[in-house]
Amino acid sequence: MAAPFDVTIRGGRIATDRETLQADIGVRDGVIVAIDSRLPPAARDIDAAGRWVLPGGIDSHVHIEQLSGMGRMCADDFYSGTVSAAFGGTTTIIPFAAQHRGKRIPDVVADYARRAREKAVIDYGFHLILADPDEEALTQHLPQAIRDGISSFKVYMTYDALKLDDYQLLDVLALAGREGALVMIHAENHDMIRWIAQRLLERGHTAPKFHAVAHDAIAETEASHRAIALSRLVDVPVLLVHVAGAETVQLVRSAQRLGSKVYAESCPQYLFLTADDLDLPGVEGAKFCCSPPPRDARSQEAVWAGLKDGTLGLYSSDHAPYRFDASGKLPRGEATTFKEMANGVPGIELRLPLLFSEGVQQGRITINEFVALTATNHARMYGLSHCKGNLAVGLDADLALWNPDREVTVSAGMLHDNVGYTPYEGRRLRGWPELVMSRGRVVVEGDRLLAARGSGRYIARRSPEATLPAAGTPPASRLPAMLGLQGKAWPTL
Ligand code: URP
Ligand code: ZN
Ligand code: ZN
Repeated sequence: MAAPFDVTIRGGRIATDRETLQADIGVRDGVIVAIDSRLPPAARDIDAAGRWVLPGGIDSHVHIEQLSGMGRMCADDFYSGTVSAAFGGTTTIIPFAAQHRGKRIPDVVADYARRAREKAVIDYGFHLILADPDEEALTQHLPQAIRDGISSFKVYMTYDALKLDDYQLLDVLALAGREGALVMIHAENHDMIRWIAQRLLERGHTAPKFHAVAHDAIAETEASHRAIALSRLVDVPVLLVHVAGAETVQLVRSAQRLGSKVYAESCPQYLFLTADDLDLPGVEGAKFCCSPPPRDARSQEAVWAGLKDGTLGLYSSDHAPYRFDASGKLPRGEATTFKEMANGVPGIELRLPLLFSEGVQQGRITINEFVALTATNHARMYGLSHCKGNLAVGLDADLALWNPDREVTVSAGMLHDNVGYTPYEGRRLRGWPELVMSRGRVVVEGDRLLAARGSGRYIARRSPEATLPAAGTPPASRLPAMLGLQGKAWPTL
């Protein structure tokens, strides 16, 4: 008789977002079909004794093979980016299909879809970056993209080439509310940053450390507050991405308690780096420049607290890989000013090991919170929980076997991205994903990649299911009813 499973993962400690248990996992046709103690032998048995068996990570904020607002191309394409993700225990990514002004959304989507189809080794969806929400985009192209499974879009409140004004943001929010999509907001006050930067440059302050001065925490908090106000005005949820500062964490927590439908994400760079890391000789600090910038020890603690108490429901990498040369960070070599450096840091491969080591192993978060922050909440927020984000019968067999005792000293040379440096060089981490499975296929085993180029699949996402932190009583706003803005119902939190 044929074995009932293609693969059995035997004897591991399984963690979901809610519980921890000692059990075997049976996989057939790429799907988890049994979780039980002592399953029968399969065609392949994987010994997970002494290992954590965790859902594969979902990284819902990554820039891959993307042209930035400043016109710089990412260092990672869909091959190196997904290989690097897989080696770090991530089995699904949601990169951006980035619209630049004057470009038609269907063309943008088709272009990114073709490139990812040819190269990705793990599964992926797409968000849209929306730089030009004109009438055709709002009435035809965005609704069609949502029907095609692109149920979230990112908008920017800063960057000359991408910035939307408040009127446009309201248009996008209203559309998202009608169609059941999620708006992700890069919240920084453009004019504050521009005004400070101009004065710094006039005084000859060009070094990377001045990037953190120009992108003041008040610019982040002001824009975040405005984004929340716009969302409340039309009663449509927003997700603030890459929250960096202590004040913004506090703002989000207060807004959630008052009933605002605001969700928030943070990233490794806000837990493990500070603005001091930008203060290096010459242009070396450019390796740490991202927007918003890493801030201070108080903000790091606030981000940890926000991840722990659910204020920040998502932990993503914001992998924005730029090489330390003219193609990315240094268009004018040593003469490059902080205004000219590509913004962004790499992190797709180290996102999970950093949080596992410094969060779970140090007792800051539980293993179940780790799962929620790195996988389950992303699936819920981005309409993937029908197939991904947890370990349960019926879901894709996307998982990683973590050796909690493996000690690793981080170096750029051990990573699989195409960046050439890491902001986390020399850090000692404890815990590492040693076997990674995507839809039942072992894609990484030890230091071997077993997945073929192009074997990842596009996942059409559903509408978000916002089931993150509990909110209070929503403030009454009569405006949505008066303007006929009511959209799809969002579940009570
Ligand atoms: O500095 C960053 N985060 N660059 C990537 C683009 C973005 O805003 O997420
Ligand atoms: Zn951003
Ligand atoms: Zn980003």
